[in-house]
Amino acid sequence: MSPAPVTADKIMDKLVSLAKRRGFVFQSSEIYGGLGSVWDYGPLGVELKKNIKERWWRSMVHEREDIEGLDAAILMHPKVWEASGHVAGFTDPLVDCKKCKNRFRADDPRIKGTPGQPDAQCPVCGSKGTLTAPRQFNLMFKTFMGPVEEQAAVIYLRPETAQGIYVNYLNVLQSSRQKIPFGIAQIGKAFRNEITPGNFIFRTREFEQMEMQFFVKPGTENEWFEFWRSERMKWVEGLGIRSDKLRWHQHDTDELAHYAKDAYDIQYEFPFGWQEFEGIHNRTDFDLSNHQKYAGKKLDYLDPKTNERFIPYVVETSAGADRTTLVVLCDAYREEEVGGAEAAEGSEQRVVLKLKPSLAPLKAAVFPLVNKDGMPELAHRIYDDLRRHFNVFYDDGGSIGRRYRRQDEAGTPFGITIDGQTTQDQTVTVRDRDTLKQDRVAAAQLVDYLTQKLAG
Ligand code: GAP
Repeated sequence: MSPAPVTADKIMDKLVSLAKRRGFVFQSSEIYGGLGSVWDYGPLGVELKKNIKERWWRSMVHEREDIEGLDAAILMHPKVWEASGHVAGFTDPLVDCKKCKNRFRADDPRIKGTPGQPDAQCPVCGSKGTLTAPRQFNLMFKTFMGPVEEQAAVIYLRPETAQGIYVNYLNVLQSSRQKIPFGIAQIGKAFRNEITPGNFIFRTREFEQMEMQFFVKPGTENEWFEFWRSERMKWVEGLGIRSDKLRWHQHDTDELAHYAKDAYDIQYEFPFGWQEFEGIHNRTDFDLSNHQKYAGKKLDYLDPKTNERFIPYVVETSAGADRTTLVVLCDAYREEEVGGAEAAEGSEQRVVLKLKPSLAPLKAAVFPLVNKDGMPELAHRIYDDLRRHFNVFYDDGGSIGRRYRRQDEAGTPFGITIDGQTTQDQTVTVRDRDTLKQDRVAAAQLVDYLTQKLAG
């Protein structure tokens, strides 16, 4: 097998088309022409994203005694967003073209000249002097609570899950009997009315975050910041992502979010360039202090050992579940030449998702070589048995080569073929997606065989 050359600009198109063809991701409301930058996860996509989220939850909550889980509501008291600084500061500078009515971020690199000035040129219709001066546009989605649509009823769809953690920090602390330092982790939906969304599921208006807020004693935050940077990079590498495609990016002062004193992004080299998919932030006591002020409730912590009272500092790890899924998909996508027995005419091109087996949506596919001679019955029995342990797929349509290719595109790590020999000695062949090598395995040993291969 040798990799076939693929041009970078085409990879995203190919990935989007594969994602649709194989049931990973569909455009939202597609039959109505789609909804801008909102995507739906199909049968394989929901499994892949769920495997990533479960891996995160296991490592952040189950495997740590100092982190508790939480599932806070999306809708929160509107004052939360005043205290958090999102009402005043969660904005992007926006400009309109008075001629073609398109909207852009003021820093859109396609804009020539200075918006608001006669020299500025609209990147869509090309008109000069039609771009307005920048104005601040809040990215939070607004809606109304209750039957009356009035200013007093305005609430927001949360733009980050973190605030649900801050407002529950005392509840969790008291009910779990944790002591500082400790963390609260949450996976949930967040919404941002992004001006320039795009690149498939990279920047969307509805997305899922996997966030953890770690509450520490002031003065110890730098140590914890380094600790969590190292832990999060290990976790990302554990997804099987090629390490030369990963790097750190420290925020300059002008990039820092309104709540952050220091921030590092983990970036991946997507086909459209290096971009962040997770951030580690030192949020100081910004959020808790503001909630204490706005809510008028004491949120300080009494250290039982020293009797000191303080507002904890927070080190946040914030990952996008959708963006991490995109990283995993981009990193797994390969086009290869295959030769040998699998190529009908000496050599053939295949598209394969080399997903880490434990993340793959389907762990194995079961194929009767032909639909006769007792093979379908045996194959069904094996399939029913495996289904109790793993997410597996049964496919008896078309030549065995075509069935392999479909599963390669789905990222299924193992193909189990029931052939003439199976009817004689109850053994099957197990084809490895990546090496194309085949093992002969006793059907009765399949669960153990796959369990071992899927570990990690
Ligand atoms: N609580 C901190 C916070 O929300 P952020 O850098 O704005 O920080 C964290 O977002 C992560 O959430 C990003 O690294 C990204 O993975 C994901 N994310 C943010 N906006 C997104 C969007 N519009 N679409 C998809 N994922 C997004």
